[in-house]
Amino acid sequence: MNNDISLQQLAVSNAINQYLDDRINAFPDHAHRLKSAMRHALLAGGKRMRPLLHSVIASMLGVNEKNAQIVGAAIECIHAYSLVHDDLPAMDDDDTRRGKPTCHIAFDEATAILAGDALQTLAFEILTSEPLADVSADQRIAIIQSIAAASGYSGMCGGQAMDLAATDSEIDIEQLTHLHQLKTGALLMACVKTAIKLADNVEEEHQQALLEYAYNIGLAFQVQDDILDVTATTETLGKPSGSDVQANKSTFPSLLGLTNAQQKLRIYHQQALQALTRLPYNTLLLRQFADLMMQRKY
Ligand code: IPE
Ligand code: IPE
Ligand code: MG
Ligand code: MG
Ligand code: MG
Repeated sequence: MNNDISLQQLAVSNAINQYLDDRINAFPDHAHRLKSAMRHALLAGGKRMRPLLHSVIASMLGVNEKNAQIVGAAIECIHAYSLVHDDLPAMDDDDTRRGKPTCHIAFDEATAILAGDALQTLAFEILTSEPLADVSADQRIAIIQSIAAASGYSGMCGGQAMDLAATDSEIDIEQLTHLHQLKTGALLMACVKTAIKLADNVEEEHQQALLEYAYNIGLAFQVQDDILDVTATTETLGKPSGSDVQANKSTFPSLLGLTNAQQKLRIYHQQALQALTRLPYNTLLLRQFADLMMQRKY
């Protein structure tokens, strides 16, 4: 483990990209176009924030690096699937992602829907088939359950449905916070929950502090995403700037104004750092990860 978050991000990205590339290559070629679309969605860029968060916590808790890589890769498959569907015409209708055409533009809508579906199931193929050293069947089931719950009705999909319902309509800041917590926060929290389950020996009060950190990081992540939609250029973002404004989405800047949204971001950042002070571990990388949430430009 590096003691600099950027170096660790590079190491995690390299390892995860290699692993996911091998997984996609291992599929036979009966549906070549679908395979290419999956590769496009999974391997054409991405900051790998979720596997990074998972790996940092797992390492801090003494989890075997290979185990963390497998769970991180599965979570990244869910994330990639969520982006492919999020960009579809029926949802955000965006044409670029990670500086490239979105999956349905590079391929076609039907292929993009299937690529999302197949990436989602790939996550569970990975979680159920890969060997995990010194992990019991009960632990494995708990990890799968945690990722499934964070992805479905109680997590990302539920949040995406609330996001669609809040488009062209007024909601209050509590509802928006709930929506953000589900659509984006839940999967980031699953990165932490699954590391705790892999470690299997974390004291209850330390679990609570880690989850509080994750909750605040999850919200900070989406608030910053909303802010970048109105402050960054399309070129820097690699996805269309002003997409939320154009679609008349409810976001932190649209409800609170930019200055108050930035203030909210600082509060979530501070609360995340505060939660870390209750932990008996070296939290340097987690503090750096929180800073990265605040300072990221895309
Ligand atoms: C974008 O996620 C979607 C949100 C949940 C805000 P990321 O900003 O992590 O996207 P990539 O994977 O780095 O492209
Ligand atoms: C997406 O939120 C969250 C997901 C669950 C995919 P956004 O719609 O704001 O993400 P971007 O801005 O398109 O990356
Ligand atoms: Mg969206
Ligand atoms: Mg979107
Ligand atoms: Mg956004």
